[in-house]
Amino acid sequence: MDKFIVTGGSRLSGTVSISGAKNASLALMPTCLLASGVFTLHNTPNNRDVHTFSLLLEQMGVQWKLEKNVLTLDSTNITSHEAPYEYVKQMRASIYVLGPLVARYGEAMVSLPGGCNFGPRPVDLHLKGLEKLGAEITIESGYIHAKCKRLQGTHFHFDVSSVGATVNILMAAVLAHGQTTLTNAAFEPEVIAIADMLVDMGAQISGIGTPTLEIQGVDALHAANQTTIPDRIEAGTFLIAAAMTKGNVTLENVQPSHLAAEIQKLEEAGCVVTATENSVTISMDDDPQPVDITAAPYPAYPTDTQAQWAAFMMKCKGAATIKDTIYPTRFGYVPELQRLGADIETGDGYAIVRGGSSLTGATVMSSDLRASASLVMAGMIAEGETEILRVYHLDRGYEGMEHKLTSLGANIRREQTEEF
Ligand code: EPZ
Repeated sequence: MDKFIVTGGSRLSGTVSISGAKNASLALMPTCLLASGVFTLHNTPNNRDVHTFSLLLEQMGVQWKLEKNVLTLDSTNITSHEAPYEYVKQMRASIYVLGPLVARYGEAMVSLPGGCNFGPRPVDLHLKGLEKLGAEITIESGYIHAKCKRLQGTHFHFDVSSVGATVNILMAAVLAHGQTTLTNAAFEPEVIAIADMLVDMGAQISGIGTPTLEIQGVDALHAANQTTIPDRIEAGTFLIAAAMTKGNVTLENVQPSHLAAEIQKLEEAGCVVTATENSVTISMDDDPQPVDITAAPYPAYPTDTQAQWAAFMMKCKGAATIKDTIYPTRFGYVPELQRLGADIETGDGYAIVRGGSSLTGATVMSSDLRASASLVMAGMIAEGETEILRVYHLDRGYEGMEHKLTSLGANIRREQTEEF
């Protein structure tokens, strides 16, 4: 078990390269189940979730190698159509193998994902979509059994905009017989990335980047390669970390258009932000103005950076309200920030952060991937040392975070610990 020790007071400055998007990689990897061959995914982040997904695919017969952020997947010899609980309990995105397996092999046995630290994570839309495509779905002993000789094109409307369900149903529909229309589909950059990948593999998809996708099913697809888009959530995390420490930081290898909502909020808070085609520079000389955010589906402010915004607003001159319309209970980080001295009130689906209280280091507990990032950032502005336990949460979605922060001048180190 590892922990981070962060000493507050450093001002971040310099340049950092942002990794490929975890949530794009986790959607791209299962496309290798849709065709036989060797797939090369460039700019793949070397983080824990990518490793977990690689092991899941390996036990299904995929051979893989991840070297210098290039992931090669060889799906020539698939031997299993099952995703065991031991993988799904570690990473919900394991359910992404469901659509491809049913579409290509006519069957799948995938463990139901468990709960999550920030609330219920249902998969009803994944299952309803597959049933609408003609799959027979049964749930037995915690496993989803899905069967269908050949999926049939249909019209499926997503009751809510769901990244995961859109990814899963899209990967099923591309091999279905006939035309499929998906309405109220998610169109996050990560969904666009996988749709582009499927087209490169020979799929026929129109409406990419919009909530309505038209898919003309094909009989077979072929292997393809792709360069993973930059991680907009890591980028947002680093932009806020720079602003919190009154720093001056340039992020390289980013797509500024993916960060429009975050950049607007940072400018409202008083930051100066400039961008080129693939970089963003942020500087901040003062404590931030209080700025409210409401997390919602793209292109709104992302739920995956609302915890980081709360940490930022601990320094604001006033009070800022943070709402999350996607995960109304995603505020598990609040009690941990309160241990550092933060003045935060929470209610149903919101938190109110009152700035100005003095922050002193303490031992805090990570509860989920993005909460742990907000604790690291809070430690950078607290007096003294902050210990962040259970950084395995953070390692799931950030590649070498302590090294990147150290290169920008943060005082952070990783230590082994027996503490749990
Ligand atoms: C993806 O999760 C991301 N994970 C999450 O990032 C992100 O927070 C989330 O999208 C929202 O943007 C990956 O891409 C691997 P959803 P996902 O389906 O697909 C409801 C991180 O930190 N819903 O878009 O599971 C659901 O309850 C992770 O990197 C249903 O009701 O999220 C939620 O309210 C955390 N039924 C809303 O839709 C379903 O069948 C959006 O969830 C599926 C979802």
